[in-house]
Amino acid sequence: MIPHVRLTLGPAELEAVAKVLKSGYLAPGLVGETLERGIARLSNQKSGVAVSSGTAALHVALLALGVKAGDEVIIPAYSCQALLNAVLYVGARPVVVDIDLSTFNIDPQEVQKNITKKTKAIIVPHMFGLMADIVAIKRFSIPIIEDCALSIGAKFKGQPAGSFGVVAIFSFYATKTITGGEGGMVVSSVEAIVDQARDVREYDKKKNFIIRYNYKLSDVNAAIALAQLKQLPSFVTKRQAIAKKYTKALAGTNFILPTVPVDYHHTFSRYIIRTPQAEQLRTYLKDHGVGTGRGVVLGIHELIKTKASLPKSKQALREAVSLPIYPTLTASEQQKIITLLINFKS
Ligand SMILES: Cc1ncc(COP(=O)(O)O)c(C=O)c1O
Repeated sequence: MIPHVRLTLGPAELEAVAKVLKSGYLAPGLVGETLERGIARLSNQKSGVAVSSGTAALHVALLALGVKAGDEVIIPAYSCQALLNAVLYVGARPVVVDIDLSTFNIDPQEVQKNITKKTKAIIVPHMFGLMADIVAIKRFSIPIIEDCALSIGAKFKGQPAGSFGVVAIFSFYATKTITGGEGGMVVSSVEAIVDQARDVREYDKKKNFIIRYNYKLSDVNAAIALAQLKQLPSFVTKRQAIAKKYTKALAGTNFILPTVPVDYHHTFSRYIIRTPQAEQLRTYLKDHGVGTGRGVVLGIHELIKTKASLPKSKQALREAVSLPIYPTLTASEQQKIITLLINFKS
C-alpha cells in the first residue's frame, strides 16, 4: 500500500529525542525555546510561544487578541474543525464564508461582505501549502490570525507565511510538513500578544488568578519538531519536485490540477486534484493499493447552522482528492499512481 501520508523521520530525530531523554528534563525547556526562535525567524516575527497543538495555538491567539463572547470571528467553511473549536472556546460567534475554488483559500470578497461592527478577528488558513490572498484581507484593517498549520515555508512575493498577520499559528501534528508528533506555535511581534500567549499557556507559579490552560509543549516533541525544521527546505524542494511531476503527467487528463499563481511559493503540503467522480476515484485508487485523502472531510457549515450558501466550499468538499505527496515517495511509487490516474475511466 502506498499511504496517503508517510512521515520522514531518521537519525536526526532519533538523536534529538535521545539527547532530551538523556538530559532527564522532559518539561518545556531549552529545546522548546530554540524551536520558538526558529519558527519566529522563519515567519519574520519577533517571538514565538510553543504550545501543545495548532488548536491550542489558535485558542491562545484569540485570547491574546481579546476576542470574547459577543464578538464575531470570520473563518472559511472549507477548513479544519480546529478553527471552529477555537472560536467557540472563547465564546465568540463563528461567521462562515466561502472560498476561491481555484486555490481552496478564503475569498477576500466574501470576507468583506461579512464584516460587521462585531468582527474582532479573521482567521486566514493558508491551505495545502499555498498562501491565501492575505494582502487583500489586510486592507480590511481587522486583526488577522494567519493559520500556517498547512503551509509552513510558503511565501508570497518572497515574504513568508506567518509574517503578514498580527499573530500567526503553526501546527506540528503528525501529518504536517514538519512534525513533533503533536505541537503548535504562536508567533507575533506585538509584545502584549506574546506576553499574554505565554501567560495563558500554563497555570503554575502565578501570582494572580485568571483562567489559564495547560498548553505547554514537552521538550521531547520540541526536539522532533526542531530536527524537522532544519530539514524544511529539503522537504519542500522534494514536495515541489513531486508536484511538478504530477502536474506534467496529468496535464492531458480531465482532472482539475492545482495551480501556482504568479509570486506564490507553494510548498505542496497536499497535492489536491478535483473531479466530479471523487468518491469513485478514491475507491479505485484504494483497490489498487494507493491511499488518498479528501483535503477537508467536513465543512464548517456541516458542523454548525449557517445561512450562508457557500457553493464553492461545497464543490471543493465533493470534488477534492488528495494524492500521496511526501519526501519519501519514491519515483516508482509516483509512477504507479500516475499510471492509475491516467487509466481511470471517468
Ligand atoms: C488549517 C488548520 N489549522 C489548525 C489545525 C489544528 O492543528 P492541530 O491538529 O495541531 O490542533 C489544523 C489541523 O489539521 C489545520 O489543518
